[in-house]
Amino acid sequence: MEKKSSSNNNLHKASKEKKDEFYTQLVDIEKELKHYKSQFRGKVVYCNCDDPFESNFFKYFASNFKELGLKRLIATSYKPSPIANTELVLQPSLLLGYEDKIVRQPVEPKGRPKVTANKFIINEVDDIDGDGAFDLRDIAEQLKVNKNNEWLPLKGEGDFRSKESIELLKQADIVVTNPPFSLFREYISQLVEYNKKFLIIGNVNSITYKECFKLIKDNKLWLGASIHSGDREFQVPDDYPLNAASSRIDSDGKKYIRVKGVRWFTNLDYEERHENLVLYKTYIPKEYPKYDNYDGINVDKTADIPVDYNGAIGVPITFLDKYNPEQFEIVKFRKGDNDKDLVINGKSPYFRIIIKKR
Ligand SMILES: C[S@@+](CC[C@H](N)C(=O)[O-])C[C@H]1O[C@@H](n2cnc3c(N)ncnc32)[C@H](O)[C@@H]1O
Repeated sequence: MEKKSSSNNNLHKASKEKKDEFYTQLVDIEKELKHYKSQFRGKVVYCNCDDPFESNFFKYFASNFKELGLKRLIATSYKPSPIANTELVLQPSLLLGYEDKIVRQPVEPKGRPKVTANKFIINEVDDIDGDGAFDLRDIAEQLKVNKNNEWLPLKGEGDFRSKESIELLKQADIVVTNPPFSLFREYISQLVEYNKKFLIIGNVNSITYKECFKLIKDNKLWLGASIHSGDREFQVPDDYPLNAASSRIDSDGKKYIRVKGVRWFTNLDYEERHENLVLYKTYIPKEYPKYDNYDGINVDKTADIPVDYNGAIGVPITFLDKYNPEQFEIVKFRKGDNDKDLVINGKSPYFRIIIKKR
């Protein structure tokens, strides 16, 4: 069953409507993580918006624990999540024999069962059930018998800003997740405050947040390796309204929504971001108008950046998909000399980043 309609910027809408329940597909996690594998060796990974029962981030790191050479994997869930432990159950094998561990409170008349927030700490993994492979069933077994791994309820709700979550964050080397879109600025500011490495999913428009742009300008944040255009599919809760969005319901009745403008945000380095953008246009003054309020030329498409122009150039935010910090310097964002939005012939183009060739 397939239902499609116009989808523009669902992540942005999610943020506005505080709908934070978009679940990342395993394939998208794998495609991104393959660029950083060696950086995970011996590291503590924290997935702090991730109910292990629902999260493919947990699934990815638990299943690849040995291959990546992780030291520890920590995952915490968020209690007020309308679907925690109850709906998606991406990892049903984790639940078998543990039903008593999921503290369900009485079902509210209209609502769904409430659950406690949990923390999972995985320090070692083994092929416990002897089927020759390490998988999530082994994790379930391991949690049962092994004192070296923990599955405990959190005292509070699992808010990433809570004291107990921050204590776990302090132990972590790298944070990897898809955080709530409505709290993206706060989320990223916290990671920077605690000096963490991170790899998180967000919307390309987050670049325009002043907290994020400053980090990008200072080369402390950049876009990840695998997504630079198009849209990506996320699983959504059963009661998610599928109107006005590109969406799909699979044969098991699971709902998916296609989201435009998705990007990974990270401070983990990868090779491709040091490759030069190949430019082929030359500077012709009449093709590149100057801003009324800034001494720089406007470029509407990254590919049209003139190869021979050494002054300031205003480019769209998607330039960052091609940005090599050794090739260009980021000068400023959005505003002209008068501190008002950049203007050409009286009109403002959508957000521009001012860059200069190095
Ligand atoms: C966009 S979803 C992504 C879930 C999961 N990381 C994934 O990609 O499959 C964001 C998750 O953050 C949780 N969340 C919302 N507010 C939170 C908060 N203040 N602290 C921690 N988690 C929160 C939501 O319940 C939701 O499960």
